[in-house]
Amino acid sequence: MKATIHINKDNVISKIDDRIYGSFIEHLGRAVYGGIYEPGHDTADKDGWRDDVADIIKELNVPVIRYPGGNFVSGYNWEDGTGPVEQRPQKLELAWNSIETNEVGIDEFQAWCKKVNSNVMMAVNLGTRGADEARQLLEYCNLDTPTYYADMRRRNGFDKPFDIKLWCLGNEMDGPWQLCAKTPTEYARLAHETAKIMKLVDPSIELVACGSAHKNMPTFGIWEETVLRECYDDVDYISLHNYYGNPTGDTRNFLACSLEMDSFIKEVSAIADRIKEEKGSEKTINLSFDEWNVWFHSNEQDKKIAPWQIAPPLLEDIYNLEDALVVGCLMITLLNNSDRVKIACLAQLVNVIAPIMTKTGGGVWKQTIYYPYMLASKYGRGTAIKADVECDTYECESYKEVPYIEACSIYNEEANEIAILAVNRSLDDSCSLDVDVAGKVIEHIVVTSENVNDINTIDDEKVHPVGVSSDLSDIILPSKSFNVIRIRIGD
Ligand code: AHR
Repeated sequence: MKATIHINKDNVISKIDDRIYGSFIEHLGRAVYGGIYEPGHDTADKDGWRDDVADIIKELNVPVIRYPGGNFVSGYNWEDGTGPVEQRPQKLELAWNSIETNEVGIDEFQAWCKKVNSNVMMAVNLGTRGADEARQLLEYCNLDTPTYYADMRRRNGFDKPFDIKLWCLGNEMDGPWQLCAKTPTEYARLAHETAKIMKLVDPSIELVACGSAHKNMPTFGIWEETVLRECYDDVDYISLHNYYGNPTGDTRNFLACSLEMDSFIKEVSAIADRIKEEKGSEKTINLSFDEWNVWFHSNEQDKKIAPWQIAPPLLEDIYNLEDALVVGCLMITLLNNSDRVKIACLAQLVNVIAPIMTKTGGGVWKQTIYYPYMLASKYGRGTAIKADVECDTYECESYKEVPYIEACSIYNEEANEIAILAVNRSLDDSCSLDVDVAGKVIEHIVVTSENVNDINTIDDEKVHPVGVSSDLSDIILPSKSFNVIRIRIGD
């Protein structure tokens, strides 16, 4: 198979907002307890954070980490996770039928984010709580005033404010599974008033309003319209969430799911622009795709997990090569839409539908999906430029024309380098790629394996990056592979 990518570095999509490489840690399963935090572990630092896990997270260079949920946030009382740890209450956690010890809360999490060179993206509880709690939490986190909640933070040992800049107005409030789910109008009013109050407390923050929990929600579209019509002037982003899966084992169809992500992004952007026009506003609402990933492997095993355990092994998907290719295609799609998608969070980061897995009391390993995410984060900083791909297509159950090659390109001005990220979706054929740009290939990294079902384990990393030698007239994208091709311009 042959393909050509036409690149003109003046054909700019957008400067990429680094926050497109964000991730997510929820108080769910073993994400926090037994994941990032495990006092007594061989690698734990004095505060109980696992250094082996932190080191691998640092390699990902994650700019923002959404916290503390997810569904968890809709029943969470943030005060439970502050102050002396021995006085914190142990509580029923109703989103995931677990027990929350509250050993970790915002006091600790914001410090851990610094340790891994990241920033908190904080969600407020608009389920069981509301605007009052949101303003109190914001004062606790961000203000330096001689007032009750800022004083409370100081008493808890944090003189300087945490200065959290990015806030989510609840989580998936349209989902019937959400504690205190809302109708579009109920949420729109609540989000508007909460946003107004939060910006009075700290005008420097940015706010993300909840969009639909996924593209197939019955109120998708109406929800976004209602929320944006009500909140347009007070919020900065609307959220998108979507998970993808392959329960029927149809790999070719699964590999095409990034086409659905692309149309989802375009539909939400169109709704936001329609409301902009309706309001005659100068302001553009951009998108925060703050939950995306593959999630389906663990669905059955999760049904067998007994309720009311501390840190049960929930949502522990073990990913294979085809999942890594899908994550690669989804990442490429986000970058090709980086004119509108400014924030995105791979959900999640450790143990729970995650690129990083740990054994409680044991080691840590990188799942297959770690690599496309890490490589994109490493080489995908700069300006997204249009990659026009000419290639064969195939037909599958959900789509008539799926390009075999999914690609994007990023121009890094300082290095005068273009990085092409490309997935070859063909399960059988390699692709000879012609890149229509003057330059020299300085590195070609390939992630692939023998079989699409190959997984990584703690002892055997079957799916990992390998450097291959290529020049511009001879680039081979192996079948079922994710590739990074770095080209120095003009050489
Ligand atoms: O990431 C797992 C869950 O998926 C989150 O808690 C929720 O927001 C979504 O439904």
